[in-house]
Amino acid sequence: MRFLSSHRRRRAAKPLMLAFALLLMGTLYAVVAPAPQVAADTGTSAQVAAGKGLFAVSCSSCHGLNGEGTSQGPSLVGVGAAAVDFQVTTGRMPMAAPGAQAPRKHNTMTREETDALAAWVATLGPGPAIPQKSQYAPGDQDAATIARGGELFRTNCSACHNFEGGGGALPEGKYAPTLKGVEPIHIYEAMRTGPQQMPVFSPGAIPDADVASIITYLESLHAQPGPGFNLGGLGPVSEGLFGWIVGIGGLCLFATWIASRGARAR
Ligand code: HEC
Ligand code: HEC
Repeated sequence: MRFLSSHRRRRAAKPLMLAFALLLMGTLYAVVAPAPQVAADTGTSAQVAAGKGLFAVSCSSCHGLNGEGTSQGPSLVGVGAAAVDFQVTTGRMPMAAPGAQAPRKHNTMTREETDALAAWVATLGPGPAIPQKSQYAPGDQDAATIARGGELFRTNCSACHNFEGGGGALPEGKYAPTLKGVEPIHIYEAMRTGPQQMPVFSPGAIPDADVASIITYLESLHAQPGPGFNLGGLGPVSEGLFGWIVGIGGLCLFATWIASRGARAR
């Protein structure tokens, strides 16, 4: 009986071992295999067709069925895949209603939908492609790169975005937004596509390496602690609470101490 059950156990162990080996191989493959290419800008015809369909539903009311533009929105001929990626992934498009400025919103489109829209808009005319990571990845935070990025930023960007990237008001109720917390890819795309009043900074004017220095500069700037005593950035509420507990708590202790001394003196 014991022999039989152990025999059966050994027989059951074989498929188990096999399953385990397969799982291990699968995991290894997932880890070792090259990551799929990100966002190829020359879309497949199926992707372009899907993009055209999606555009007709979500975007054509303002940009026209062929992206030619209407009184509600500009022409998208030649804006490029990068402009679509920037506008859609920052949640600016689809705009809910025409207004002075398209604000940053929660992005409601999936990666596939954005790529399809970008692929279709890219067929309307040549424009900047969605960048590869190597084009916008911030460089080493060494002093020379940060200094170069800072110089470029003060020359080209601070007039609108403020010298430390905090943003600023523009005429007619418009504004240049803060650059704090903006992802590197969006900094790259904004520079290459020039949303609204922002000028286009072409690769001829500011090459990719310099864009990366600007990104490095902004990251170093925003990684610095704020001025004053801030308890490691716990935020104003918890910092206020801390002050309250220490302050009022201290006063209570002091009052009790005085009271106990007074009682002893009597
Ligand atoms: C309610 C109208 C409206 C809708 C809907 C809309 N847009 Fe726009 N779009 C605008 C306006 C107005 C602008 C220009 C002003 C701005 O950028 O704030 C613009 C700008 C853009 C730009 C930037 C063009 C440039 O020159 O860089 C892109 C790209 C874009 N839209 C794509 C889309 C896509 C894709 C959709 C659909 C998912 C969409 N829009 C839906 C009104 C709209
Ligand atoms: C003439 C004014 C002007 C200059 C100069 C300018 N910008 Fe802008 N920038 C804007 C405006 C306006 C917007 C907002 C556009 C919108 O919301 O559609 C903007 C948006 C951006 C955004 C998008 C932020 C977000 O919230 O998604 C980035 C990133 C950016 N700018 C970076 C730069 C950099 C880097 C430079 C310098 C190389 C620069 N800008 C120069 C006016 C300017």
